[in-house]
Amino acid sequence: MNKLIEISNLKKIYNLSNKDQLLLIDNLNLTIYKNSITSIIGPSGCGKSTLLNILGLLDSNFHGNYFFESKSIKEINSKNLSNIRNKKIGFVHQFFHLIPELTVLENVILPALVQHDNILDVNNDACKLLEIFEIIDKKNMKPNKLSGGEQQRVAIARSLINKPNLILADEMTGNLDEKTSDEIINFFLKFVANHNISLIYVTHNKKYAEMAKIKYELRNRNLILK
Ligand SMILES: Nc1ncnc2c1ncn2[C@@H]1O[C@H](COP(=O)(O)OP(=O)(O)OP(=O)(O)O)[C@@H](O)[C@H]1O
Ligand SMILES: [Mg+2]
Repeated sequence: MNKLIEISNLKKIYNLSNKDQLLLIDNLNLTIYKNSITSIIGPSGCGKSTLLNILGLLDSNFHGNYFFESKSIKEINSKNLSNIRNKKIGFVHQFFHLIPELTVLENVILPALVQHDNILDVNNDACKLLEIFEIIDKKNMKPNKLSGGEQQRVAIARSLINKPNLILADEMTGNLDEKTSDEIINFFLKFVANHNISLIYVTHNKKYAEMAKIKYELRNRNLILK
């Protein structure tokens, strides 16, 4: 199986304002294969979002080795890192992070414009995604007119617009009712499996954590395979 991510001896320390240090992750090793689905569960404050930020190339301030598609990210300059992040990684968050001034369609299109793709192709791709996620009828509306579940479907469509190899989802259903959460998680897991995308998702919900093929718990500064 092809490796997408290989991390060894990862250590993450936050410097706190009073010169104390917080050792959050220590000696963590992790391999993520292409087309795999991984869940991470763990108590609040244990470092799940911190770990996802590192995995998503948003935080390079750590000790240890991180290879993304066999390249050491420490040897990639910041411009190329943001390029990889934009092209290959999609993010989904608990609070959706849609831009309120933009329409649903414009929100989905936005990450693709960074790559200067053909706008007509991008528009078609975005509409296809909005159809798949059954939100096409609201494409010209502003996000604040949508329900939480609808906003999350838009955010998921946005995370897919650049056809990423990896999606990182941080408590994507943390802000939704149970029925809507069930629908979104079921749909999303099927979608990534059918499109050869690797997914790493953080959840507080044991039922959702169990739905992944590979299940980890972040505890005592390290990942424990369940
Ligand atoms: N920039 C920062 N500087 C200092 N400490 C930080 C910083 N970011 C996060 N922390 C601390 O690191 C710890 C882990 O935070 P993180 O957000 O990764 O936890 P989490 O596991 O995602 O929690 P939750 O389940 O509540 O989302 C917390 O104690 C937090 O206060
Ligand atoms: Mg978090």
